[in-house]
Amino acid sequence: MERMLTGITPSGVAHIGNYIGAIKPALAEQQDGREHFYFIADYHSLVKCWDASLRQQYSYDVAATWLALGLDADKTLFYRQSDVPEILELNWLLTSVAAKGLLNRAHAYKDKVAKNVHEGQDADNAITMGLYCYPVLMAADILAFNAKYVPVGKDQIQHIEIARDIAARFNHIYQQEVFVQPEAVVNEKTQTILGLDGRKMSKSYQNTIPVFTSSKQLRKNVMKIVTNSQLPEEPKDPEACTVFSIYSALATDEQVKELRARYEQGIGWGEAKQVLYEHLESLLQGPREKYRALMADRAGLDRLLEQGALRARDIAGPILQQAKRAAGVI
Ligand code: TRP
Repeated sequence: MERMLTGITPSGVAHIGNYIGAIKPALAEQQDGREHFYFIADYHSLVKCWDASLRQQYSYDVAATWLALGLDADKTLFYRQSDVPEILELNWLLTSVAAKGLLNRAHAYKDKVAKNVHEGQDADNAITMGLYCYPVLMAADILAFNAKYVPVGKDQIQHIEIARDIAARFNHIYQQEVFVQPEAVVNEKTQTILGLDGRKMSKSYQNTIPVFTSSKQLRKNVMKIVTNSQLPEEPKDPEACTVFSIYSALATDEQVKELRARYEQGIGWGEAKQVLYEHLESLLQGPREKYRALMADRAGLDRLLEQGALRARDIAGPILQQAKRAAGVI
C-alpha cells in the first residue's frame, strides 16, 4: 500500500490558519485508501525550543488537537517521534552518507548564516548541529517507513529533495534498493489565512485566532479582526476582507454565496463578524469538548500514542534491519 507521512512540530497551540492550511486538508486524506502516518516531531522541536515543559505541553496539545478534530488513530498510524527509536538509529546511518555540501545549501541554515553575517556576527553564531542536521532527521522520519508521499508546505519542499538525495545516495553506496524515493505533495489550493491585523496569521505576529478557546474568547477574537472604516450600509468588497476569507475557507459554497450577497448589500462589520463567529462556534463546539477531555487525561494520550508507536515500530524495524545489513552493521 502507498504510504503518506505527515510530521507535525509541536511548537504552539493550533490556530485557525493551521487548521485551514494544514490540519483540515491532512485529515481529509485519511480515508483515501493509502496508509497514513501522522507523527509529533518532538525531536525536531529540540532544535528550536529548549524549554522542556513547554515541549511536553505542546506535544500533548498536538495530540489532543488532531484527535479532537477528527484524526482516527485506529485507521492511521499516530505516534510520537521519540517513541520510535528506529528513527534515530536510521538517522545515524543516513548522517554518515549525507554530503555536507548538500546540507550547506539548506535554506533554513543558509538564512541563519546570512543573518549572522549581515549583523556582523560570526557566521556560526547560535547555530547548533541540530539545526544543521535537521534535514537528515527529516529524511530518517520518512525513510524509516519508506513513505512515498509527503504533504508539505512550500517551505519544506527542499527538505524532501534532500531526503530523496540521501535515499539515492545510500542505495547507491551500498548497492541495494533499501529506500523508496519520497515525493513532496504540495497542495496548491491552500490559501494563506490572514490574521487579526490583516497580515498572514502566524504565531510570530501574535495575530492568531486559536482553534480551542472558550466560545466567549473566540467571539472576542473574531470581533478584533481589523476591517476598513466603511459604514454599515455601504456595499463591501468580500475579496479584500479577512472575515470573508476565513468564512469562505470553512463554509459551504451556498453559505459563501449568501454572505457574498450580503456584503454587496452592505452588511455591517459587526454583523459579518457575528456570522463568522457563529460558524466557527458551530464547527468547533463539539471538538472543543473532546479536546478538553483529551487534555485532561495525559495518561490516556500516552497510551494511545504508545500503541501507535508500537505499530509504527513494526514497520520501521524491518526497514532499519535491511539498511543495517546493507551497510554491514550486523
Ligand atoms: N519540518 C516539518 C515542519 O516544520 C515537520 C516535519 C518533521 C516533517 N519531520 C517531517 C514533515 C517529516 C514531513 C515529513 O513543518
